[in-house]
Amino acid sequence: MAWLTNKVALITGAGEGIGRAVAARFLEEGAAGIVAVDIVEDRLAALKADLGDLVVTLRGDVRSLDDNREAVALAVAQFGKLDIFVGNAGVRDARRRLDDTSDADLSDGFDEVFAINVKGYLLGAMAAREELARHRGCIVYTLSTSSFYIGGGSIYIASKHAALGLTRSLAHELAPNIRVNGVAPCGTPTALADAGSLARPDSPTKPRTGGPDTNLMHIQIEPEDHAAAYVLLASDQSRVMTGAVINSDGGRGVMSTIVV
Ligand SMILES: NC(=O)c1ccc[n+]([C@@H]2O[C@H](COP(=O)([O-])OP(=O)(O)OC[C@H]3O[C@@H](n4cnc5c(N)ncnc54)[C@H](O)[C@@H]3O)[C@@H](O)[C@H]2O)c1
Repeated sequence: MAWLTNKVALITGAGEGIGRAVAARFLEEGAAGIVAVDIVEDRLAALKADLGDLVVTLRGDVRSLDDNREAVALAVAQFGKLDIFVGNAGVRDARRRLDDTSDADLSDGFDEVFAINVKGYLLGAMAAREELARHRGCIVYTLSTSSFYIGGGSIYIASKHAALGLTRSLAHELAPNIRVNGVAPCGTPTALADAGSLARPDSPTKPRTGGPDTNLMHIQIEPEDHAAAYVLLASDQSRVMTGAVINSDGGRGVMSTIVV
């Protein structure tokens, strides 16, 4: 049984990593069309070459309300409607600490990370809400174990905690016509980049591994492992779920709560 038959989705940050895996899985589940938004043009071209004509792409910046509106309009023009908005584009903070960050970098870095990881999610909801409400659609946000626990730098953690607050608040505000939920992945090997204003070209941040030693299940976690949680939350099977979060983390969060 396909879970997303005839559904149309817009996915931000769809050019790579988790967003790309979600786009591919949505098509396997019968989605009628995907609008893939990313700031990197080459990634979108590769995605379209791989996934085909049911994917239309838009090079856009989630920090722009106009770009978000253009993406929603593209969904309606190409596929007749929008049922699912996946807010996913994000950046890291190079695990910056206060004692290794200049005043200017701290201010610029905060603004950049929050503009993408938080404001981008809010602008997406603003742009999509009328079209989603028309079809009793839904929003799924990519959260993180950093929405609940300490992992990463303070700016990234604060942004992912904020995105959790946004998920809960918008679930309340947009009910009863739009459900709003989140998926919280743990460390997963992707190209997830540091915000330009915080990146350290001289000592690049250690890449994430998602290795077997990072989770209770002792498995190598890949972007594709998270896609099923998005399918559930995007489908009508989860019609009683709103303001909820699926922790897609191999038990990583549980590990953080052990007291010895
Ligand atoms: N990889 C992990 O370990 C991990 C863990 C938990 C949560 N997350 C979250 O998952 C989401 C996806 O990250 P990923 O790991 O797949 O990384 P990724 O870099 O592979 O994918 C993110 C995509 O977002 C795009 N993007 C960045 N800024 C943008 C902007 N301003 N406008 C439009 N597109 C933009 C990038 O070009 C990239 O293609 C992020 O929200 C991230 O915080 C990642």
